[in-house]
Amino acid sequence: MKISVIGAGNVGATAAHRLAEKQLAHEVALIDIVEGIPQGKALDMYESGPVGLFDTSIHGSNDYKASADSDIVLITAGLPRKPGMTREDLLMKNAGIVKEVTDQVMKHSSNPILVMVSNPLDVMTFVAHATSGLAKERVIGMAGVLDAARFRSFIAEELNVSMQDVNAFVLGGHGDSMVPVVKYTSVAGIPISELLSQEKIDALVERTRNGGVEIVNYLKSGSAFYAPAASAVEMIEAIVKDRKRILACTTLLEGQYGINNVFCGVPVKIGKNGVEEILEINLAPAELAALQHSATLVQENCKSLSTLLS
Ligand code: APR
Repeated sequence: MKISVIGAGNVGATAAHRLAEKQLAHEVALIDIVEGIPQGKALDMYESGPVGLFDTSIHGSNDYKASADSDIVLITAGLPRKPGMTREDLLMKNAGIVKEVTDQVMKHSSNPILVMVSNPLDVMTFVAHATSGLAKERVIGMAGVLDAARFRSFIAEELNVSMQDVNAFVLGGHGDSMVPVVKYTSVAGIPISELLSQEKIDALVERTRNGGVEIVNYLKSGSAFYAPAASAVEMIEAIVKDRKRILACTTLLEGQYGINNVFCGVPVKIGKNGVEEILEINLAPAELAALQHSATLVQENCKSLSTLLS
């Protein structure tokens, strides 16, 4: 198993180290446009092997040849959000970067699975799919796992229970229009509506919706990376170990949930072939409408990139 990580910034480097520590690959290649950064970070990670107890070969490069024959490629290259900047502001800039990166990746790996992190996530997943020519099952966006992790951590804190016992789904686009699905959110199988007041649930939903902004406001420069990296690695682990995990991921919808030809976050089964199944769960009318609205916003942004992709 060879995994390449494109973008050796906060998310990419954190994810690469985590991949090695979890021994999910025999080789991890870290690629970035900035000279010295992927080489230096990869060497530093490699040197942590004896104490971190892993034998993964980690190397960094500015040349995509180093990514040759990857089974999985994690794409984190792009510009992070700054305070006051929405994910959509990043659209044009990051679309150009993701197109260039995907082109380069595809020159050296014939049939990789692409796991996308660059924002705005759903649109970047569309760009990578359109550029790569890969089957739709092999281009997956990381959003729902992160958004659900935030929701789950807030619920665990509120109830003073183990994070492990909290389950949640956050669907839709990764942005202000995300759809936390309260109906399928539970603690050890107990619906949260039995444990928390509606007012409390609404407040936690709102905090989840603003989870990214909350971190950006603290960091001032740069955006969240520990939870995003951990979430991407959880998806990669499901692929590497063919675990058939049910996770909310961004995938191409073709009629499911009444949404056609748009990348959007829904529950999927993740295994060695990437997205192996899309689960169509029963949503309340308001939640379905919110999901469809979220997809419309993603579609509008994708349309604005038609010149770039033609
Ligand atoms: N090719 C390769 N790497 C690039 C390119 C490119 N064309 N353009 C930028 N990069 C690299 C940068 O040099 C930088 O090292 O991408 C890396 C991005 O790292 P950070 O700026 O630290 O950003 P990070 O916090 O990792 O976020 C990366 O993930 O969560 C999203 O919104 C976030 O889109 C952003 C991405």
